[in-house]
Amino acid sequence: MSILSVNDVTHLYFSKNSKTTALMDISLSIEEGEFVSLIGPSGCGKSTLLSIIAGLISPTVGKVVIEGETVQENKKQIGYMLQQDYLFPWKTIKENILLGLKINGKLTAEKTTQSLQLLAEIGLSGVEEQFPTQLSGGMRQRVALVRTLATNPKLLLLDEPFSALDYQTKLKLEDLVFEILKQYKKTALLVTHDIGEAIAMSDRIILMSKGPGTIFKVFTIPDELKQLTPFEARNHPNYNEYFQQIWKELESFETEN
Ligand SMILES: Nc1ncnc2c1ncn2[C@@H]1O[C@H](COP(=O)(O)OP(=O)(O)OP(=O)(O)O)[C@@H](O)[C@H]1O
Ligand SMILES: [Mg+2]
Repeated sequence: MSILSVNDVTHLYFSKNSKTTALMDISLSIEEGEFVSLIGPSGCGKSTLLSIIAGLISPTVGKVVIEGETVQENKKQIGYMLQQDYLFPWKTIKENILLGLKINGKLTAEKTTQSLQLLAEIGLSGVEEQFPTQLSGGMRQRVALVRTLATNPKLLLLDEPFSALDYQTKLKLEDLVFEILKQYKKTALLVTHDIGEAIAMSDRIILMSKGPGTIFKVFTIPDELKQLTPFEARNHPNYNEYFQQIWKELESFETEN
């Protein structure tokens, strides 16, 4: 059964004297355990789609179903890492990463240990008692990722989680996140501008066209790449061929205008 299905979603933003059609007729479904990436030009509605799936905004038309129920009924199954990190500046890093667990009434000694361990795995031991302003942008992004994973959601929505990181850290984190998600059989929908990252991490890539965002094309990543870690996939002989293919599709949007 699909863990997520988005059915005929269209979304408009209204302001006093204008309206923007952000998404148009989006339908997609994601199977349990699948890793899907969403790529497309800036402003094509990727973050809007994630916010709709997370139930933060209601679509103008259409609906979202999570495991056969509405998002509102199934909110706790979703972990959403927003494009901006939104850590609470007055709370320490430790308090920030444990916040979701606390809100859900699931904060136990074991969960605390697990979350702090994840923080260490992601290369951030020793910052627990510091405040977000004392960390760099990339460090804060990693903290936000730990906070998202801490509540152990079934479906992860990740909006450019690695974009503020230096290249080396990004490659390391891709591998780490990939392994964590596989190990715990998580389902993920990742927004990225990085074609290479999408190929290296995903089972499927959904390419969206320029606003109003529609689904333009879906690429299925072949088994020989899917089985590899992101780092290995980037070094596979077939990687470049897929990269070129997707690159050309994205370029075709740029030349349209
Ligand atoms: N709160 C809002 N009110 C009005 N318009 C909005 C709002 N949020 C987004 N938009 C508009 O909707 C469209 C889609 O925006 P969205 O942030 O979803 O794009 P995106 O694909 O995530 O872009 P990026 O890659 O730059 O993050 C854009 O035209 C944007 O200006
Ligand atoms: Mg966005």
